[in-house]
Amino acid sequence: MRVAIIGAGVIGLSSALCIQEQFQSLLPSLELEIYADHFTPHTTSDGAAGLWQPYLSDRGNLQETLWNKETFDYLLGQLHSPAAKEMGLFLISGYNLFTEPAPDPSWKNIVLGFRNLTPKELELFPGYSHGWFNTALMLEGRSYLPWLTNRLTQRGVKFFHKKVESFQELFSQGVDVVLNCSGMRSGDLQPDPELQPGRGQIIRVLAPWVKHFIITHDLKSGIYNSPYVIPGSEFTVLGGIYQHGNWSEENSAKDHKSIWDSCCQLLPALQKAKIVGEWSGLRPARPSVRLERESIRLGNVQAEVLHNYGHGGFGITIHWGCAMAAARLFGTILQEKKQLATPPGPRL
Ligand SMILES: Cc1cc2nc3c(=O)[nH]c(=O)nc-3n(C[C@H](O)[C@H](O)[C@H](O)COP(=O)(O)OP(=O)(O)OC[C@H]3O[C@@H](n4cnc5c(N)ncnc54)[C@H](O)[C@@H]3O)c2cc1C
Ligand SMILES: *[C@@H]1O[C@H](CO)[C@@H](O)[C@H](O)[C@H]1NC(C)=O
Ligand SMILES: *[C@@H]1O[C@H](CO)[C@@H](O)[C@H](O)[C@H]1NC(C)=O
Repeated sequence: MRVAIIGAGVIGLSSALCIQEQFQSLLPSLELEIYADHFTPHTTSDGAAGLWQPYLSDRGNLQETLWNKETFDYLLGQLHSPAAKEMGLFLISGYNLFTEPAPDPSWKNIVLGFRNLTPKELELFPGYSHGWFNTALMLEGRSYLPWLTNRLTQRGVKFFHKKVESFQELFSQGVDVVLNCSGMRSGDLQPDPELQPGRGQIIRVLAPWVKHFIITHDLKSGIYNSPYVIPGSEFTVLGGIYQHGNWSEENSAKDHKSIWDSCCQLLPALQKAKIVGEWSGLRPARPSVRLERESIRLGNVQAEVLHNYGHGGFGITIHWGCAMAAARLFGTILQEKKQLATPPGPRL
């Protein structure tokens, strides 16, 4: 049984790990291969700050809320393991700020200690009249992707640095199942009109005195360019750019200025922060995540594809729930192909 995973971002690597962990011992002939044209540290998943919060995705999709919750709870369970440091995993608390009343978010009971801000806290942020405080998690891609890659390598998963031009090319080489975890790459493999880039740009600064994340929301404007500040283990990420439909991965001076000005207005001490980097990336935005199985007929063979893409601005937040769902779908394929004598264990 040969399985090819297209994509070595957080989605491809975690899907591969989940399948390996759940099925390798049941199916010793399982061979996993990962194909990607970009590896860590050059994927979108590496550029993301890594905050667990369903960014711009509170659209009442219960399935996605459940995957977000599964990811949070899985990560919380890893928090006190010795691996947490290598994974780039730690707790972080912070603020969400609004200029008008906002309904409670879907993730209110997933994070720790969610509450509304007190008047005294709001005084810290002039111009904002409402807000929340909670403790969430950081999972930094720059650490987590190498950690996933090491685990996969140790378990015999093979990596190929290669751009995949078509699924056929993999199936004709004898691959049985393809996982499509290719992020924001519509057009390369068959286009998906529902998938659109949500362009983002960030500035990395040294500001070790910033201890809390601050995410602002401008519900009125309907434009999602509101500043955020997210402190990480080495640097603090300043952002707030969301440009739907824009494919540019170039840094723009105009966006740089708007991030800098708005973040310094929010936290004036940032004017003293040293800029150490800048990055632009494309969020794979879709009305909902595409996580489903597709059987493709190629000549006289039935080829199986598992899609797992379209995780927008919250791929790290949702990744493990999606990886487990992809592994479950993989289990149904194995059962149909009569590769498994007994149904897989209770983790399914
Ligand atoms: C500015 C910014 C900040 C963000 N901050 C956060 C955050 O704080 N928290 C959070 O949860 N999310 C955040 N995100 C969102 C997150 O980065 C994405 O949702 C996530 O990285 C998507 O992961 P992925 O594995 O699907 O895609 P990617 O990381 O883009 O990986 C795609 C992989 O597919 C490969 N690939 C694609 N096509 C082919 C092909 N034809 N052949 C071979 N390989 C191919 C690529 O080489 C790559 O390895 C942020 C995004 C941006 C832009
Ligand atoms: C694979 O995923 C990409 C998104 O990265 C999507 O555009 C494409 O349509 C998918 N491929 C197929 C054959 O469905
Ligand atoms: C896309 O973003 C880049 C960088 O900000 C900008 O120069 C360009 O004008 C934008 N294009 C569109 C179509 O909005």
